[in-house]
Amino acid sequence: MNIAVLCSGNGSNFQAIADSLKSGKIKGKVALMVCDNPKAFALTRAKKAGIKTALIERKNFKTTRDFEAEIIKSLEKEKIELICLAGFMRIMGAEFVRRFRNKILNIHPALLPSFKGAHGIKDALDYGVKVTGVTVHFVDDKMDHGPIILQEALEVKNDDTQDSLGQRIHKIEHKLYPEAIKLFVEKRLKIEGRRVKIK
Ligand code: GRF
Repeated sequence: MNIAVLCSGNGSNFQAIADSLKSGKIKGKVALMVCDNPKAFALTRAKKAGIKTALIERKNFKTTRDFEAEIIKSLEKEKIELICLAGFMRIMGAEFVRRFRNKILNIHPALLPSFKGAHGIKDALDYGVKVTGVTVHFVDDKMDHGPIILQEALEVKNDDTQDSLGQRIHKIEHKLYPEAIKLFVEKRLKIEGRRVKIK
């Protein structure tokens, strides 16, 4: 199965996905990384891993629709069947989501539906929760909202900072995202309304 990863920044999840797919345990291949930020370290990672990249910047398009149409074109060219958002700092429009219905995954650094948005780790820490975690979910047209595939919790320690908590969260992310991808590739995920049954 041809998989695309969409990134805007560091790309550590992209790296984890690419590494785990290289091992051959998952019958899929990262055929493309789409990036909207020319300064993203994710681009360097992809080049090093020999993975094709498409740099598509919003500023080069008149409308968001045109920008997304270009992304769709690049995904179709590589015959992509699964799209993994991994630190992609944009909310994709309804048309994009419709085109790849139930074929887009996202990872979020909190236990959804808590702490949606771009600062899940900081928001959880600031709120004072004792438990937070990681969520991998299908993407629908609302932010951090689609049916949940996998979640893993971790405890917040007394002396945690955003950095120390972030490090433990990322470690879980790098394990959980490949797990979810494996389930998808093996067609073991069945969406029933909001619930995702694992076969
Ligand atoms: C991760 O924490 C992910 O949960 C969130 O954005 C971050 C991306 O990190 N959606 P990286 O670019 O994969 O290192």
